[in-house]
Amino acid sequence: MAINRLAVVGVLAAAFIFVGHGFIVVEKSPSVAQPGGQVLESPLNSQEKALADLGHWLFFDNRISKNQTKSCASCHAPERSFTDGYRSSVGSTGESVAHNAPSLINVVFRTPLGWQSPGVKTLPQQLRNPIFNQHPPELGWLDESDTLPERLAGVAFYKERFAAIFGPDKPTQWKNILAALVAYESQLVSFQSRYDKYLQKKTSLNKDAVQGKNLFYSKRLACGQCHVWAPQKLSFVAFQPLSLLMPPGTDSFRVPDLRNVAITAPYGHAGDWPDLSSLLLAKGYTLTAVEQKNLVAFLNSFTDTSYFKNPYFNNPYSSE
Ligand code: HEC
Ligand code: HEC
Repeated sequence: MAINRLAVVGVLAAAFIFVGHGFIVVEKSPSVAQPGGQVLESPLNSQEKALADLGHWLFFDNRISKNQTKSCASCHAPERSFTDGYRSSVGSTGESVAHNAPSLINVVFRTPLGWQSPGVKTLPQQLRNPIFNQHPPELGWLDESDTLPERLAGVAFYKERFAAIFGPDKPTQWKNILAALVAYESQLVSFQSRYDKYLQKKTSLNKDAVQGKNLFYSKRLACGQCHVWAPQKLSFVAFQPLSLLMPPGTDSFRVPDLRNVAITAPYGHAGDWPDLSSLLLAKGYTLTAVEQKNLVAFLNSFTDTSYFKNPYFNNPYSSE
């Protein structure tokens, strides 16, 4: 699919109004995306919108951790491109999880999911990790016999919304909660960085970034060998298994997407690098100061903060 076609989709501004316990929120619908990388040119139907909207409330609600201290947004905060700024995230019981939280912008196009889980290929599969992981706990639920459905059924706001979508029979059951969260995550699509616009021939890159781009794709540095730009996925991803790219015996991690990399420090699977320059040095490259500056300028062109203004990407409770 050509990038120009994606540009046509744009961000739809259909407003829909929710009247809940004494407040009204006007939301913009997000760009329209589907798992598998297909971008739809028609808006979600009202049922799909209602489901994604329900997921929006859940994503930011501490009630979805067993001890009510964390939500998805605790580790995936909108202002950091849905990361948390920690080297490795801290679960609801205070224990550190093994890895650094990745950005969720355009996650719907990414696979596999997670730093080191080649078998986790879809959002529904991945979602079970934060909810049910025990070693260490993240949101702290044991399994589907656990009591989040009962908790949500006790909240009139949720009870009504779940019932409106799923009908009166156990509307807050696990399956429905998970579906709502996946529907929301799937809508976190944005492609308004300078680099996106440059690829659409709508803008230019500054001189440093152009030099950085040349270095990125040069034979010597070959960053683009692993960080492959996939237009239909709006992302830098790896197509080859990393085992083919790294020396044998090296620990393999998924090649991370570089979108918004300027605002997702610290870097690497364990957040070992506090900034882009230290990461580039750690990768073993010998770079002059000017080359470093240029590469960083190119990486900065992947920053897309346009979604900051979109309420759909932000905490719905803060506009209550
Ligand atoms: C305690 C912090 C924490 C919480 C809470 C949390 N996550 Fe995550 N999330 C992470 C970390 C860390 C990873 C990387 C996991 C790994 O690779 O080991 C991750 C990975 C992901 C990924 C895969 C992204 C990718 O590019 O591979 C998705 C999707 C995701 N989380 C969604 C969610 C959703 C939805 C929730 C709420 C139900 C949630 N997370 C709650 C920390 C958290
Ligand atoms: C051999 C494959 C490969 C090459 C070549 C490569 N990278 Fe990476 N890159 C990776 C992998 C794998 C990671 C994750 C490493 C980790 O977590 O320990 C990564 C991480 C990164 C990150 C951190 C992203 C984040 O969110 O944590 C940046 C930025 C980055 N690379 C930029 C570059 C640049 C710039 C070059 C060229 C100078 C380059 N990479 C060359 C595979 C590669």
